[in-house]
This record gives sequence, structure tokens and C-alpha cells, in this order.
Amino acid sequence: MANITYIEASGQSTTINLPDGWSLMQGATTNGIDGILGECGGSCACATCHCYVDESRLGDIAPASENELAMLENVAAERRPNSRLACQIKASPKLEGLIISLPAVQE
Ligand code: FES
Repeated sequence: MANITYIEASGQSTTINLPDGWSLMQGATTNGIDGILGECGGSCACATCHCYVDESRLGDIAPASENELAMLENVAAERRPNSRLACQIKASPKLEGLIISLPAVQE
């Protein structure tokens, strides 16, 4: 389990306790967080689960795969060095307290 805090572009902050193995995208879409769409269901094929990871925690997350890096080319909002796809980040105790910010647009 890990408590993950989602900060939407509006400033709305929501913290969710995610079971191990759940993706950060699943956590958002099943809890009504509007800033993540997740249109492809988590198969790294839509880039509508773009998020900005707290830079100080990037080292706690497995690096992006080649496929994720390619999909990050297609995000609607500004791509930043801490841009990731939330469907590719899986909850684990290592992520406890992680904060991610969501862009204003996903498509
Ligand atoms: S949900 Fe489609 S790329 Fe993440």
C-alpha cells in the first residue's frame, strides 16, 4: 500500500491509499480524479494519463520504458523532465507519500 497524493491543475488535492500493484492511473480513475483520463486502459497507448512526479522522488520509481518515452512525445500538455505516464507507475511501499501533479489538459 502507498498513500499517493494527486494535485489537479485546479489545485484540488486528493490522497488515495493504493494497493500494491495498482497503477497511479487506476487509482485516479476509480476515485473520480478528473485530471487523468486513462483512455487506453493502461496499455501505454494513449498518453492521457500524463502526470508530473515530485522531482525529489523520481529515484523511487522505475525508469520509463522505451515505449513510455515514445508515448510521452504525444502528451497534450507541456512535457517536463518529470513527466511520466501514470499507468506505468505501480504502487508499492516505496512510493509512500508520493505527490503527483496533473496537467490542465490530457487531449
Ligand atoms: S492510460 Fe493510456 S497511456 Fe496510460
